[in-house]
Amino acid sequence: MEELIHMKYLRMPIEIESPEQLGYDNIECNLTESSYADFKFKDLGLKLDDLVIAYIDHRGHPGLRKLLSEDTGSDPKRQIHPDHILLTSGAAQALFIISTTLLEKGDEMIVIRPNYATNIETPRAIEADLKIIDLTFESGWKIDTKAIEAAITPETKLVSITVPHNPTGAMMTADEITAVVEMTRRRGCYLLVDETYREMTFGGPLPYAATLAPHVISVASFSKTFGLPGLRMGWLMTKNTALFESFFAAKEQIQICGSALDEEIAFQFYQKRGEFVPQILTNLKRRFEILKQWMGSQKYLEWVEPKGGCVAFPRINNATLARIDLEKFYRILNAEFSTHVGPGHWFEQHKRYMRIGYGWPDDETLKKGLERITLAIAKSLVR
Ligand SMILES: Cc1ncc(COP(=O)(O)O)c(C=O)c1O
Repeated sequence: MEELIHMKYLRMPIEIESPEQLGYDNIECNLTESSYADFKFKDLGLKLDDLVIAYIDHRGHPGLRKLLSEDTGSDPKRQIHPDHILLTSGAAQALFIISTTLLEKGDEMIVIRPNYATNIETPRAIEADLKIIDLTFESGWKIDTKAIEAAITPETKLVSITVPHNPTGAMMTADEITAVVEMTRRRGCYLLVDETYREMTFGGPLPYAATLAPHVISVASFSKTFGLPGLRMGWLMTKNTALFESFFAAKEQIQICGSALDEEIAFQFYQKRGEFVPQILTNLKRRFEILKQWMGSQKYLEWVEPKGGCVAFPRINNATLARIDLEKFYRILNAEFSTHVGPGHWFEQHKRYMRIGYGWPDDETLKKGLERITLAIAKSLVR
């Protein structure tokens, strides 16, 4: 009986092999994370005693939506109204809501690979017709606007991009995003911009893409820059009223409303994010320099230097690839050195690629983990 059931949802390697599933305590150097270090509750200084654990506003905490709306700018033509912002259980839920709302079996959508797995896997579960644009190391992981334009057909319903990009840290310029907004408007398809790493753009964040046109949907999160992934707080926004109503209906069917506790924590944190974010960005920058220095001394690895986010996606260079037993490398790295990275197969890439999350470990653990990668490669050379 079991094998007769069509399995709509398949667990993704990135989730099965995630550090939280393996047990954080079992990993000494955790270089798999794609967020800033997780905060302890006591360090946030929040006041929660008077919180009533009721059903709450179905769109999400009104005070928080107001603050998020203010962040979309003061230009009334651009600003996203608080009622067009939907708080979700992580950006992951927002992505699920968007895919299941917009796509039916056979609907054409364009998506970038490598990518955060859900951006590909949920449309796949729906059996949408995926047109995948493969980014390449050789072209600097560039998200090519011309390739997107060439892939769009009259059937394309949705184009999905991620900026800053996970796992490569690649960026698009404001002009390139505007070009994609313009081409999707002209060709009559929706545009999803996953902006989960927005505040981690080196040189400052770009405007939310949803401010640019009503066919655009922005997704963002408390997980990455703010180091609060366990809150499960994210949001989506769009100026398109009908589209928003449909997303809102999906949320109400999934969970009625969000968690009163999570949303209050997120609200109070966001009110005083100015106390936290500058230090977070300083720490990220310092850790990026540690990574950069290590990469500079590498004879085994090569990379395209990231332009945003808190992860890099280097690869074993050709000379080393000819000599290495890759399975042995990951075995030694994990079992002998208790060090984990995100192997390429998490992103449907060859295992010569690995995602290194440099924002989560403290400086010493990061240095130790990087040294262990070098050692594990050296010990896995067989030719
Ligand atoms: C690009 C991207 N989008 C969405 C998510 C999901 O984040 P959240 O924790 O907010 O659900 C992630 C998490 O890694 C991500 O990298």
